[in-house]
Amino acid sequence: MSDAFSRSTAPLDLAGIGIGPFNLSLAALLDGMEGIDACFFDAKPCFDWHPAMMLPDVELQSSFLKDLVTPVCPTSSWSFIAYLVAQRRLFTFLNAQYEAVPRQEMANYFAWAGKGLPNLRFQTPIREIDLEARHFRLTYDSGSVLARNIVVGTGSRPFVPAWATNHLGPRFFHCADIGHRLDDLARAERIVVIGGGQSGGEVVDHLLSSERLPRSIRWLSRRHNFEPINETPFSNQVFSPEYVDAYRRLSDERKKTALENSILTSDGLSISTINGIYRKLYRLRHIDCAPIDVAMMPSRTVVQVERQGEEYRLVARNSFDGGIEVFFADAVVLATGFRFVVPDALHPIAHRLYRDAERRLMPGDDYALAWDGPRENRIFAQNAGRFSHGIADSQLSLMAWRSATIINALVGRAVFDLTLPDPILVWPSETPQERAVGLAYS
Ligand SMILES: Cc1cc2nc3c(=O)[nH]c(=O)nc-3n(C[C@H](O)[C@H](O)[C@H](O)COP(=O)(O)OP(=O)(O)OC[C@H]3O[C@@H](n4cnc5c(N)ncnc54)[C@H](O)[C@@H]3O)c2cc1C
Ligand SMILES: NC(=O)c1ccc[n+]([C@@H]2O[C@H](COP(=O)([O-])OP(=O)(O)OC[C@H]3O[C@@H](n4cnc5c(N)ncnc54)[C@H](OP(=O)(O)O)[C@@H]3O)[C@@H](O)[C@H]2O)c1
Repeated sequence: MSDAFSRSTAPLDLAGIGIGPFNLSLAALLDGMEGIDACFFDAKPCFDWHPAMMLPDVELQSSFLKDLVTPVCPTSSWSFIAYLVAQRRLFTFLNAQYEAVPRQEMANYFAWAGKGLPNLRFQTPIREIDLEARHFRLTYDSGSVLARNIVVGTGSRPFVPAWATNHLGPRFFHCADIGHRLDDLARAERIVVIGGGQSGGEVVDHLLSSERLPRSIRWLSRRHNFEPINETPFSNQVFSPEYVDAYRRLSDERKKTALENSILTSDGLSISTINGIYRKLYRLRHIDCAPIDVAMMPSRTVVQVERQGEEYRLVARNSFDGGIEVFFADAVVLATGFRFVVPDALHPIAHRLYRDAERRLMPGDDYALAWDGPRENRIFAQNAGRFSHGIADSQLSLMAWRSATIINALVGRAVFDLTLPDPILVWPSETPQERAVGLAYS
């Protein structure tokens, strides 16, 4: 490889494993920063954002201003606005008056940054990471590189429930793969979609829009209903640095409750998806009188599956009335979510990472994982702290702020001003003195 890190034997200050949006944001904020030698590696040939889930007309669930850089460095040349200007379509974009930006446009913006940033190396899967004396050694297929610190940005993996793992195949798959399975799905007459989050909604919406409709669709969700995302102003405050700061101070027990209480600020269905599905159902049923049997079935937990010849037999518990139901399908789509897992490459040092009582990793305030290695060798982790840092950790909203937090920790000074603003919502208890002052004036 004829690039900076193979020409020089000097260790990098920071090596990134994975280039999804989160490490891309870090790379964008580090671009041009004097005195920090950083390089990021990804297995893919180029930046591509969840390509197999890019169904037609899907939309972004967050503001385009919460891009790679803007919340902490609005003058960066890697902002979404800078992308629009570079493409000569800022005015056209504004005139489009999107309530939600097409996800493909955000993906195109990320890909534009992925192409332009000099500190990224694609087609370089990191196979192994070990600690040698005072450096990490990252091994890839054609060599290795040394780094003082690393940042894990390998994303989360599709979650496949234990009862489903033995059945995975062309007609029984996680929706992370749906783009590769559309032909198999088009041949199926009876389709069951499991999981009532946004991914499940996008799959069902797509099925209802097909030119060739299946004979039946069953959408099973464990939640009490097909719940909308809560994007109202107070609820959205959980996507703020102030909230993360307050959440960080909670005990594990209270974190669990706070996380459960805020789940629908992140994992609910977009209103546009709900409306789209409902109106398609109306049209198919009452206007087109289409020969399709569709049932939306909340409060169902699928607990078992069997393959019987060419068909799948699914058993679900109904938490609404306590019933047990059986469904037959030619194809099953699991939209059962994603989970962070420690990447395989970290296995040589994974046993040195500290874990909490539930075996979760423990990222600190600066997103460095607690471990028994040298203090000067830090392992930062993005998207690994949904429990430790709260609901925003797996979302785009705070990615620029988190990247800036990591950079400040890396260089040991406040390169970015991350002073917390006065919170609109006061989450933690006031101190006794504050309460006393408040009472004195009341
Ligand atoms: C379909 C979908 C849509 C979403 N839309 C939104 C949204 O609108 N708003 C929002 O806030 N959140 C959204 N999210 C949630 C979240 O923002 C995304 O999942 C986001 O992509 C997470 O970014 P990441 O950088 O952690 O990981 P990823 O995007 O998953 O990227 C990880 C990268 O690591 C690479 N990699 C893994 N292992 C290695 C290795 N050993 N060596 C080299 N490279 C490796 C992979 O090739 C991959 O490119 C969405 C999630 C999904 C699934
Ligand atoms: N367009 C977009 O912007 C977009 C698109 C896709 C995803 N996303 C984001 O990506 C994240 C992941 O979304 P997601 O929809 O993939 O996952 P998700 O929000 O975690 O939803 C998964 C769903 O599957 C259910 N489930 C799991 N096991 C089940 C079982 N055995 N039986 C029945 N239901 C079961 C879960 O139930 P419980 O709720 O009870 O656990 C949950 O409702 C979210 O933050 C989402 O907003 C965004």
